[in-house]
Amino acid sequence: MEVSFRDKRVLVTAGTQGLGWAIVELYLKEGARVALCARSEDSLNAIRQQFGPQVIARRVDLMDLDATQGFVSDVVEQWNGLDHVIVNPPHSVRTPVSELTLSEWQQSYDAIYRSMLAVVETALPSLLDQDRASVVVISSLAAVEPLDIMPASSVLRGGIAAWAKLMTREYGSRGVRFNAVEPGYIATHVVREGISRTARETGRSTEEVIAGLSKPIPLRRLGTPEEIARAVYFLTSDLASYVSGACLLVDGGLVRGV
Ligand SMILES: NC(=O)c1ccc[n+]([C@@H]2O[C@H](COP(=O)([O-])OP(=O)(O)OC[C@H]3O[C@@H](n4cnc5c(N)ncnc54)[C@H](OP(=O)(O)O)[C@@H]3O)[C@@H](O)[C@H]2O)c1
Repeated sequence: MEVSFRDKRVLVTAGTQGLGWAIVELYLKEGARVALCARSEDSLNAIRQQFGPQVIARRVDLMDLDATQGFVSDVVEQWNGLDHVIVNPPHSVRTPVSELTLSEWQQSYDAIYRSMLAVVETALPSLLDQDRASVVVISSLAAVEPLDIMPASSVLRGGIAAWAKLMTREYGSRGVRFNAVEPGYIATHVVREGISRTARETGRSTEEVIAGLSKPIPLRRLGTPEEIARAVYFLTSDLASYVSGACLLVDGGLVRGV
């Protein structure tokens, strides 16, 4: 089976670094047109200069509802539709569960859900017009194994599986698939910062901290952003034409439950 994304129209949120950028880069390499957003103008500009009309790179804060919806509707208008949407949410707060305030819960909800719902609601009419459209949400291993260091994300991400199934039941018969990818520990900027911080605080080397993190992972290493991008790519492709309402763990085997 030939898998081609040539001239497909793909929208990726939070796409200038880490998982988002690896996803953007893979679709661009495969010939798709990619619309992405982030807050820092410098990185957006560098991407515009490198890829020209193959990209729409817009400065948008996903915590701003109007700006988020405006971005998606402008892309739909400019490209006369969309084929795939990858929802990569901003980070949520890391406050311990005993100290989480109502406003931090709200902030985390806005980061993970409100931005996702705004993007999908705005893109949906256009996705329903296509033959084989799909949505992939970046969730987390915390959805299936709550992490003490990320309580808000753990609680909220637990609901994404239900959302993907409900959306599949509602829209599957109209040709749109909804799935999620649940990354484990992936060596992005934010994870590397956490590793350096732990090293400083505990007097260990970064190699020692990475070795400690890797020990319980059956594949004995952190994942790469490219490995998450390939899982997303698979789920949007025709290789996954009968996959919908699924959550794909990409965690090197870390989650022990079945
Ligand atoms: N890395 C992991 O191990 C891992 C594991 C499971 C789940 N995740 C989830 O995956 C997502 C991405 O994580 P990552 O590690 O790739 O992060 P990252 O390396 O820090 O990259 C974050 C990206 O999001 C953009 N961004 C951040 N806040 C934004 C906002 N409010 N509006 C628009 N763009 C925003 C950033 O650009 P600007 O700063 O310029 O806006 C950047 O492009 C997060 O939801 C994270 O919880 C990550």
